[in-house]
Parts: sequence; structure tokens; C-alpha cells
Amino acid sequence: MAPAKLILDGKEYELPTVVGSEGEVGIDISRFRQKSGSITLDPGYGNTGSCKSDITFIDGEHGVLRYRGYPIEQVAERSSFPEVCYLLINGELPNRQQLDEFSGNLTYHSMLHEDMKKFFEGFPPTAHPMAILSAMVASLSTYYPNSSREELRDLNITRLLAKIITIAAFSYKKSIGQPFIYPRNDLHYTKNFLHMMFAVPAEPYEVSPVVDRALNMLLILHADHEQNCSTSTVRMVGSSEANIYASIAAGICALWGPLHGGANQKVIEMLRLIHDDGGDYKKYVDMAKDKDNGFRLMGFGHRVYKNFDPRARILKKAADDVLAEMKISNPLLDIAKNLEKVALEDEYFVERRLYPNVDFYSGIIYSAIGIPVNMFTVMFALGRLPGWIAHWKEMRDDPKGRINRPRQIYTGQTERSYLPIEER
Ligand code: SDX
Repeated sequence: MAPAKLILDGKEYELPTVVGSEGEVGIDISRFRQKSGSITLDPGYGNTGSCKSDITFIDGEHGVLRYRGYPIEQVAERSSFPEVCYLLINGELPNRQQLDEFSGNLTYHSMLHEDMKKFFEGFPPTAHPMAILSAMVASLSTYYPNSSREELRDLNITRLLAKIITIAAFSYKKSIGQPFIYPRNDLHYTKNFLHMMFAVPAEPYEVSPVVDRALNMLLILHADHEQNCSTSTVRMVGSSEANIYASIAAGICALWGPLHGGANQKVIEMLRLIHDDGGDYKKYVDMAKDKDNGFRLMGFGHRVYKNFDPRARILKKAADDVLAEMKISNPLLDIAKNLEKVALEDEYFVERRLYPNVDFYSGIIYSAIGIPVNMFTVMFALGRLPGWIAHWKEMRDDPKGRINRPRQIYTGQTERSYLPIEER
């Protein structure tokens, strides 16, 4: 594609263009400041590409999401989470031997160093599991201090994927005052997680195929989403050559925010509020439209999807299926569906192109499989981990990669002289 032309202060600049494999066009401004002395400005980066990437493609206008070219609908329906982890991190689907070895390693490395159990004793019982998760992931670097060595990268990626489910399950057991349940060598990833979450010493937990299938689908749907806030954070921190544990811990903290991964917990809290308030969902739709009260319809809206979020569409159907298979009814699901119906017919939401996002229905399913609300964002983090790792690797393998350091437009005081305190 022909270069772009930009005229600034009467002078014309030619800017190279970049065309992606799906026809997306970018204007390369990487040398513009050097030529013009000016920068571009895009608060929130809504119109700015930070990198080229081969991992995930999103078409927000058409509700398209693909992992390494594979449509989310197909992998959610037919793949397993360990297989999607392998795909995102390595770029190709594994063959049977590769998957067995990868999945076996995730089981083999799932134990924490016994001394790490002591860390949990310092957290109050009310500690939010996301605080524990980020602290424990960063702390893994104290047990694997050589994690920055290139030849140990794959081993540390495996350790991180394998141990994060143990950390998550231990944080849950800590919050309910039950003893930690260790991972088993005869269980694969999601079954091991459910075992550690719900078994008790006196009674083993039999993982139901329905629950295991639902968990795999939930984790797959959250596995990556290109340059979202937390993934961009992982890239930012990793660009300073911080080790993978520190980079992922930063991503966990970014995900915790209620505008990002923390929304799934806020959605259920909102649906419960509506339910306890007599189920008057129209009242809350009106509140969401009123700027003065600061209330937002959590689980609605998206920076990229200006049509439907394909993950929300899959989750809405899955919520019905899982509840039916488990013979569970949840009044919050009906409230969610009514909220969606009313909002999608309301001009405020239609003109702003606000649709349910991945967080709107996920909590209904997490609740059905027994995950407590304060663990919902931890579940999002467990799903997003392979995406964060894939982007961290891609960024670190970029031969032209360098530390991320955005510029700014300064709008503060111009130069002035310091005054002694007596003269102020
Ligand atoms: C995730 O980036 C990703 O890919 C994220 C994610 C991933 O997989 O990583 O998809 C996961 O984070 C999903 C989003 C979860 N968050 C929520 O559900 C929180 C509620 N949603 C919003 O706060 C909001 O929609 C965002 C944060 C998701 C998007 O924010 P934007 O793109 O900055 O949009 P905006 O805040 O500028 O809103 C545009 C307009 C505003 O009104 P006007 O100023 O134009 O009058 O839409 C309004 C907003 O007030 N608006 C909402 C709304 N979301 C946007 N009004 C009511 N309820 C909402 N939920």
C-alpha cells in the first residue's frame, strides 16, 4: 500500500504503511518524531498499534476471534485447554505425542515448593485471591532465580502454567479454612484443579465430565485477546527484560480492575443486587444510562467489539446447557437474559454499540460448577495465562524489540525559579 502523507505546519511527511494478513492497515510512525520533532497522541491507545503479532486476530465489527487462525467457535467446542495453551504458545496444534508430553509436564510440575505454603499463612482469611495470585506468581521467581536464562525459558513457562492452578486452589482453601489438597499425578490439568478446589481429606471429589467440559470451555474462551490491558501490561513489563514471573504477576494485577477482568465478579454482584431488589432490571438499565449516578451495566460494552462478542454468544448458550445438564436453575440467568434483551433494544446502548462481553454470562457458569464469586477473576487469569505467555515470548523473540517507553505532551508549568519558603 502506498505511504500515507501527513502535512504538519506546511511540511509534508511520507509515512510507510503496514498491511496485516487480514488486510488491517497501519501507518508506521516509528520514525515520525525523528523527522518532524512531533509525536502523535492517543490517550488509552484506542487507535494505536503497539506491535505486530501472529497470535490472535479480532475483527470487532464482525465478531470474529481466532487463535493462530482457528475460529474461537471451533476450538471452544472441540479442543481442550492444554491443547489451546500449546497452540497459543507454540503457534501450531500439537500432535498426540506432543500433547501427551505437554499435558504430562503440566501435571508433573504442579506441586509448589513446600516452603511456599508458609506464604499463605501471612495472608488474612479475607485476602482477595487476586492479591494472593499476583504475590505468589511473583514469588515463584525466588524459587527459580535463573528464569531469565534462555535455555530455561520453556521449563519456567511449564512451571508457571502447572503451578498457577495449585496457587489458585490453595488460595480458595485458605479463604474457607480448609486444608490444602495437593495435585495428583493421575489427573490432567482441569481435573487436577477441580480436585484441589473441591476435594477434602475425608472425601475425594469425583470430577463430573460436564463440569470438566464446562471448565475447559471457559478457560479456552479466556485464553487470549490480542493487546488488551493486561496483555499489554505483560508486554510492557517484559520489555524491560523482567523475568516471566514478574511480567505475568503485573498482568494479573492489571486484569484485577473492574473495567477489565474484575468485571465478571461485578456482573454477578450486579445481578444479585437486581434480584434482591425485586428483579427490576429495567430500573438498572435506566441507571446505566444516567451519567450522574456512575452506575455501569457490568459485562456490557467493549473497546474492540462494536457488534457482538463471540465469546458472550458461546457463553450464553453454554450457560443454558450446563445448568440444564446439572439440573440447576439460577434466577440470575433469567435476569441477565432480560437485561440483554432490554439493553439491545434501547437507543442508548444501540447508538453506543454496547453488547454483552465475555464477562456477562461467564459468572453464571462459574457459579454452577461451584466457583465462589471472589474467585471469578482468578479463573479469568487462569484462562488468560497462555495468552500472556505467548505474547511475552513473541515480544522477547522480536529481534527489533526494545524497552517500551511512550512519550507525552507536557501541559504543566513552564520554567520558574525556586523560592525559599519565607518568600512563598
Ligand atoms: C474485558 O480489551 C479486551 O479485549 C478486554 C477483554 C479481554 O478478553 O481481555 O475483552 C475482557 O475486559 C471485557 C470488558 C469488561 N468490562 C466491563 O464489562 C465493564 C463495563 N464496560 C465498560 O466500562 C466499558 O464498556 C469498557 C471498559 C469495556 C470499554 O470502555 P471504552 O472502550 O473506553 O468505552 P467508553 O468508556 O469510552 O464508553 C463509550 C460510551 C460512554 O458513553 P458516552 O461518554 O459516549 O456518553 O459508552 C458508555 C460510556 O459511558 N458505556 C457504558 C458502558 N460501557 C460504555 N454505559 C453503561 N454501561 C456500560 N457498561
